[in-house]
Amino acid sequence: MKFTTIKPFLNLVIIVMITLIVTGIVLSQFTNNLFVLLLVLLTEFVVFMSLLHYIYDKYIKPIEKATVTLDELVKGNFRARMHHPVSGSMASLLMKINSLARSLSEISIHEKIVAEQLTTVIENIQSGLVLIDEKGYIHLVNKKFLSIFGKLEKDYIGYLYYDVMEQEKLHKTIQQTFLYEENVKDFVTLDAEVKQYFEIVSAPIFDERNIIKGVVLVLYDISDLKQLEVMRKDFVANVSHELKTPITSIRGFSETLLDDDLKDKEIARQFLGIINEESRRLQSLIQDLLTLSKLENEDSKLELTLVNTRKLIDDVIPVLKQQADQKGIQLIIDNDSEIDFLADLNGIKQVMINLVANAINYTPKDGRVTLNVKEEQDFIHLCVKDTGIGIPKEELPRIFERFYRVDKARSRNTGGTGLGLAIVKHIVELHKGMIEVESELNTGTTFHLYFPK
Ligand SMILES: Nc1ncnc2c1ncn2[C@@H]1O[C@H](COP(=O)(O)OP(=O)(O)OP(=O)(O)O)[C@@H](O)[C@H]1O
Ligand SMILES: [Mg+2]
Repeated sequence: MKFTTIKPFLNLVIIVMITLIVTGIVLSQFTNNLFVLLLVLLTEFVVFMSLLHYIYDKYIKPIEKATVTLDELVKGNFRARMHHPVSGSMASLLMKINSLARSLSEISIHEKIVAEQLTTVIENIQSGLVLIDEKGYIHLVNKKFLSIFGKLEKDYIGYLYYDVMEQEKLHKTIQQTFLYEENVKDFVTLDAEVKQYFEIVSAPIFDERNIIKGVVLVLYDISDLKQLEVMRKDFVANVSHELKTPITSIRGFSETLLDDDLKDKEIARQFLGIINEESRRLQSLIQDLLTLSKLENEDSKLELTLVNTRKLIDDVIPVLKQQADQKGIQLIIDNDSEIDFLADLNGIKQVMINLVANAINYTPKDGRVTLNVKEEQDFIHLCVKDTGIGIPKEELPRIFERFYRVDKARSRNTGGTGLGLAIVKHIVELHKGMIEVESELNTGTTFHLYFPK
């Protein structure tokens, strides 16, 4: 029992004692009978004590319990409740305290859920995030931010941003946000194993009186976008370069012919032959570029029909056979079973022609090229194998890139544009198929293609 609640009770006890003493003194004036005196005082004492007990149980004890419950609520224990058998206004007080406790408990649960949701969002967004107060101290860093810089939370929290962030660009962006009190954007490059590019956006946070309270800094990873930009630039440079060579040559030879007035018929014929060859090269380059751009178009759709493997081979082999014969290469077709599968006929033809033509181009005289079509569990397995010059291991991952050639001079001599395998890969991917390559220098190369049935 606390002193504050027992104090009024003690006062009552003192009043009772004084009343008893006064009654005793007054009664002793009227009677000398000690028995009667004691009886009256005892009765009076019992009556008073019962009254006090009633008051204590009815009013003081509930107040005491209410105080304890409220203390618990103040401490944040919202599960505290008050239990006491009372009636009347005390009962209403008890009910109100319990209902207050219930409301507080609900509010606290709701707050907890909201806080958890917010933490989940902050921790899982794919952008780095930092919260800085108006004095420059860091209050929050998310997982992504830590992973970008490879540090721990304790390396940042509670420190001044300019003491723990190494990038000058970040300091500058934050300073400008504090200075101008508006969003500031910039870019930063990090030299990790692979170069990473980030867009940084720093935004001020204001309180209800519109006074700046801090800054939130967000880092967006734009490495993929940057890579696309580099690829696009490379592509334009490559196309220009590829176009330049044949055009220069056509222009050069035609100018010579014009200057020469076509006197020497033999030389004129030779030059015209070169011009013809170069314009053919230009045409095939442009044709390949058009095919690629069509394949890369997001709306590009396959015209799926039932393709019969035997018919497919019969269609494409004659041209390829001629090329192989000219080079003295043995072309072997290994396709015993006839299989029907859903595919884009023109696409598949192009894939076969490109792969077999490569095999013939990159295989020396007396070599062997084998085309094999097999039916496997869920897919059609197409395999083009040669006994040619092979591809170095380190070049293998790059051969499907546009314009990539292992041996630039040799490929150009064969009239290659370096787009053939890029086209093949696109067509295979549009069919949701897979392409694999294995190769050994000076031994041969094998391309495996898998098309879903
Ligand atoms: N069977 C193969 N054997 C050895 N090297 C190959 C073979 N197939 C492709 N390559 C290498 O991969 C490179 C890319 O091939 P790709 O077919 O894309 O271009 P290309 O043959 O040079 O020109 P084109 O676009 O006219 O086909 C070739 O330049 C060549 O170096
Ligand atoms: Mg090729």
